[in-house]
Amino acid sequence: MTTIAQSLTELVRVAADAAGYADSPVPLEPCVATNNPDHGDYQSNYAFRVGKSLRTNPRAVAQAVVDALPSSEMIAKAEVAGPGFINFTLSDAWLSSDVQRRCRDARLGAPSPGAGRTVVIDFSSPNIAKRMHVGHLRSTIIGDALRRLYSFAGWNVIADNHVGDWGTPFGMLIVAWHEWRDDAAYDADAIAELQRLYQLFRENAKADEALMVRARAETAKLQAGDEENAALWTQFVMASMAEFDLVYDRLGVEFTVTLGESFYQPKLAQIIQDLLDRKIAIINYGAVVVPFTAEDGKGLGKNPLLIRKSDGAALYGTTDLATVLHRVETWSPERVIYETDNRQQQHFKHIFAASKKMGVTHVDFRHVFHGILRFPDGAVVSTRAGGSGTTNLIDVLNTAVSRARAVVDEKSASLPEAERAVIAETVGVGAVKYFDLSQNPASDITFDWDRSLSMEGNSAPYLMYAHARCCSIVRRAAERGVVAGDLRLLEPAERNLALAVARTADAALLAAETNRPNLLCDHLYTVAQSLSRFYVNCRVLGDDVDDATSASRLTLVAGVAQALRTGLDLVGVGTPSRM
Ligand code: ARG
Repeated sequence: MTTIAQSLTELVRVAADAAGYADSPVPLEPCVATNNPDHGDYQSNYAFRVGKSLRTNPRAVAQAVVDALPSSEMIAKAEVAGPGFINFTLSDAWLSSDVQRRCRDARLGAPSPGAGRTVVIDFSSPNIAKRMHVGHLRSTIIGDALRRLYSFAGWNVIADNHVGDWGTPFGMLIVAWHEWRDDAAYDADAIAELQRLYQLFRENAKADEALMVRARAETAKLQAGDEENAALWTQFVMASMAEFDLVYDRLGVEFTVTLGESFYQPKLAQIIQDLLDRKIAIINYGAVVVPFTAEDGKGLGKNPLLIRKSDGAALYGTTDLATVLHRVETWSPERVIYETDNRQQQHFKHIFAASKKMGVTHVDFRHVFHGILRFPDGAVVSTRAGGSGTTNLIDVLNTAVSRARAVVDEKSASLPEAERAVIAETVGVGAVKYFDLSQNPASDITFDWDRSLSMEGNSAPYLMYAHARCCSIVRRAAERGVVAGDLRLLEPAERNLALAVARTADAALLAAETNRPNLLCDHLYTVAQSLSRFYVNCRVLGDDVDDATSASRLTLVAGVAQALRTGLDLVGVGTPSRM
């Protein structure tokens, strides 16, 4: 099936052809859902844009397009509005059969625009030997939502966790390990001990310069393949990964591969040499850099990309260039997405521009960056800082779950203890994730416990509750032997709800294409709000409701449950069937 927006856009294309605008330089943008009934159900801005570009009256263009529209069962009304918009109102009969067909499909009738296309999504990517903290939360959560959304859109998704498992921090850790380690503490909590050692090193290194010299030597030994250091490195990496996996399991996050920075180290010397040979890189005061000119693009700044320091060490960016080449060779992706915080914008501009110079011209690189996540106590939590004083991620999740538990105990006292615990986990973890995902990734956000766990407003518990409510109606209907039947849209509240369900496929594809999971969240919130209005105005079961109406409304309610379940799953949020 196509989405509604796609079908309407196709009609506009045919009409524009017939009206003689086929050669206009203005590309056809998809029709968009309106959330204002005065503007119809969907709107096209095509005529408006053509009119502007041809310097003719946009309203005349819109009228010509409307007049040329092929007859279609879909459309009840198409009219010109404002400076030249075309507003479409769908026919009720068409809408009801469309919703029914979508609800029979697990994918809500979404097509697969990504079929045959590969995307690499680089996300989470925490640094080894540090506890994962809330600074990694946004990359992990947003990246995983993108992974789910792109898969839904039919893409072949390679989810790659580019963990920071290389560099001088390991030399520092090795020195600290020999100097100050506490074996009992390490056995009890490896990451806590590594973190303590790392901090201790940094504090002591301020007064004692020799420590840093030793750390560099240990790093060099590690890089040269020294057995003892390699064994320590493996041990630190394994301890860290085991802990990261606890977080990933808890969050329901998955990766296709975990290829950390260390994986690329053997390739770096060759890449640097190659870039020098091809004159893409130059030597500058003993260091090797990739310089940029205006031709390489905008916003690259004055500085070149440093790929080898004067002491011979390769850098974060060198590894990223090797990573680009490896991904291109291994998966031939059409698109590569990086999800990190906004302070790495310049870095990725450099990486994308340098990749083009290396000949990677066919990849659509995207940097999806997120703003800062603050916690109400004022702690600013960022990815690279990560030292002490930051909020631990597991603590955040535990707090959310115990707060959710209090709500579940109050609202669903009759459910068995074990089920309440499972629901509280889903609600608590879902609330934290949804709080982030329901906002534009680029914005800075301040976490708000009350809002994230509220049973009202655009929150996970509100949407989960809407879903559970639908499930409860479906269960009661089954008990009474009411069977779902043909959908008839009698009341405005019914029509609105049906339209919202039918638009879910459009919303999910739009969220994927724009890398903005919040667009899907906004839509799901609209679905839940429409459900509340329906709930007030339209009874599903009861002696005063005739059989055909009950059967129709049951179809609709089951469809709402499916739309919410599918949509929330696409942002990694669970949906208990009872709450
Ligand atoms: N480890 C880095 C950090 O915590 C993020 C890595 C992002 N991915 C990449 N290919 N550079 O800041």
